[in-house]
Amino acid sequence: MSMSRDKTQTMPSTLPKRIAPILPWLILAASAALADTDHRDGFMRYARVDRPDGSFRKLFIDEKTLGALRLGQAVSDGASIIMESYSGPDEVRSVFAKKRKNGRWQYGSLNPGEPLTAFRPRPQCSGCHVAANDSDGVFTLSMLQRFAETGEPQEIRCPRVGRIPCDRSVYDTR
Ligand code: HEC
Repeated sequence: MSMSRDKTQTMPSTLPKRIAPILPWLILAASAALADTDHRDGFMRYARVDRPDGSFRKLFIDEKTLGALRLGQAVSDGASIIMESYSGPDEVRSVFAKKRKNGRWQYGSLNPGEPLTAFRPRPQCSGCHVAANDSDGVFTLSMLQRFAETGEPQEIRCPRVGRIPCDRSVYDTR
C-alpha cells in the first residue's frame, strides 16, 4: 500500500521532468503545423471534395470576394481561390491557387504556409479547367455561391479518382 502511495506522490514532479527535454520539439512541431496553414490568412473555407482513393481537397475563397457574393455580385477581378490537396488526414500534398485578372483566371502554386504573393504561375493548369467553362472555369462555383448564401461549407464526394472532373451535377449543391 505504502509503495503505491509513494509512486503517486512522485508523479507530479517526474512528469514535467520527462516532458522538459522534448518541450522545444513540441513547440517547434506545433508552430510548424500552424505555419503550414498561413496561406489561409484572409480566406474562408467554402468546400471540401472527397475522392474514393482517400484523397480530398479543401477550398478557400478570399473574404473580399465572399462579401461581394453575399451581396449577390459576381466573381470579379481580384478574386482568388486557394485549394489544399490532401493525400491523407493531415498530409497537405500541394497548395494550388487561381487569381482573377482582366476577366481571366491565372493558375499557380504555393508551398504550404506561403502567402498568395509567393504565387508561382502554372499556365498549363487551365487546360483541364476549360471543362468548367460554363461556370466561369470554376468547377466548384455552385458550392461557392451556396456557401455565400448559407455560411455553411459545402461537402461533396466525387466518385472519380485523382483530379478527374466529375459531372456538373455532382458539384451542383444549389
Ligand atoms: C485534370 C484536371 C485538372 C487539372 C490539370 C487541374 N485542375 Fe484544378 N480542379 C480540377 C477539378 C475537377 C476541381 C474541382 C475539385 C475536385 O473535383 O476535386 C479543381 C479545382 C481547382 C480549384 C478550386 C476552384 C475551382 O475551380 O473549383 C483551384 C484553385 C484549382 N483547381 C487550381 C488548379 C491549379 C493551380 C492547377 C495546376 C497546377 C490545376 N488546378 C490543374 C481539375 C483540374
